[in-house]
Amino acid sequence: MPKIIFISANGTERTVEAAEGTTVMDAATQNLVPGIDADCGGSAACGTCHVYVDPAWTGKTGPATPGIEQDMLALTDNAEPSSRLACQIRMTPALDGLVLRIPANQH
Ligand code: FES
Repeated sequence: MPKIIFISANGTERTVEAAEGTTVMDAATQNLVPGIDADCGGSAACGTCHVYVDPAWTGKTGPATPGIEQDMLALTDNAEPSSRLACQIRMTPALDGLVLRIPANQH
């Protein structure tokens, strides 16, 4: 299964497996990754699954989707160009090894 590496604001790394076709948020919540609360359950309505995509991976994840994802990220006070909602990134084999940072206000 593809793997995802989550890096918390304090530098702690956690590697989890993610089944193809599921979302990054699914993998985070199933593995109790700190900082990914996913309060809305994946409907891009809460922003509690906000992550920063490592620069080496932005080309593969792509940018935030115009509309609901970009609108939700705009409501956070710490969005960056690499920001995504984990619930809007669907796992594919091409994302094996994906590196994501968790914002400092999420822990
Ligand atoms: S889980 Fe709520 S925005 Fe992603």
